[in-house]
Amino acid sequence: MKPYVVCHIMGSLDGRIMSGNWGMGNLSPMFEGPASKIQADAWLVGRRTMEEFSSHRPHRKLAGPFRISKTDFVGSHKAKTYAVAIDPSGKCHWDSNMVSTEHVIEVLTEKVPAEYLAHLRSKNVSYVFGGESSLDLRLVLEKLNRLFGIKRVRIDGGGTVNGSFLRAGLIDELSLVLAPVADGRTGIPTVFDADGPDTKRKSTRFRLKTMKRLDRDFLWLRYAKA
Ligand SMILES: NC(=O)c1ccc[n+]([C@@H]2O[C@H](COP(=O)([O-])OP(=O)(O)OC[C@H]3O[C@@H](n4cnc5c(N)ncnc54)[C@H](OP(=O)(O)O)[C@@H]3O)[C@@H](O)[C@H]2O)c1
Repeated sequence: MKPYVVCHIMGSLDGRIMSGNWGMGNLSPMFEGPASKIQADAWLVGRRTMEEFSSHRPHRKLAGPFRISKTDFVGSHKAKTYAVAIDPSGKCHWDSNMVSTEHVIEVLTEKVPAEYLAHLRSKNVSYVFGGESSLDLRLVLEKLNRLFGIKRVRIDGGGTVNGSFLRAGLIDELSLVLAPVADGRTGIPTVFDADGPDTKRKSTRFRLKTMKRLDRDFLWLRYAKA
């Protein structure tokens, strides 16, 4: 079964998502407040975003040889909720198998080296394979449901991971926190970074479900896939 997927993101009026130069101070509460109201068993982010939560210490390579087959691994844990990283090459390293109260699940391709799997096993971090060299995101969602019982996933960005789920047609709902600021920078992540300008893919239509005015002229817009 495919879990229900809600994409939650905070964007400027022109769709940019890097808030560092918006001059509005710490915007985490504007993102986290609405996020906490979206029922989900897991939040999922791209590798670049997950690097904000994974280990910042230099990683010491483990000594081999390693005989670890490229099959899914469920690390021992007691958590009921999960933090999922789309990390096809295995770039995030971990000091523990938790981010706050969530158990970490790495989504990998089979191109990851065995030494990386040994690292994840040494920390009891769970991992699933989503393909040989590229990811089948529907398969990934089905595995999250089958192996961990995840029924609802909240995708928390960034633009690349949002775009890849959009491209795969897997987003059921969009939760957009709109910041009252025009960013104007080019070449930075946007709400959805899916394809180049010549794509044949049709745009995805949404239907407005709810809208709420938040503090400081922010809006929280919730859409269902039309
Ligand atoms: N405003 C907000 O609400 C919000 C929320 C989250 C993040 N952000 C910001 O967004 C920025 C990061 O966004 P981003 O778009 O650069 O990165 P991202 O989406 O966080 O991560 C992108 C990386 O994830 C992996 N990935 C994602 N989808 C994949 C797929 N379908 N197949 C294979 N690999 C896939 C790739 O890793 P590899 O490169 O290793 O192959 C890719 O480079 C950060 O500045 C962060 O702070 C803002």
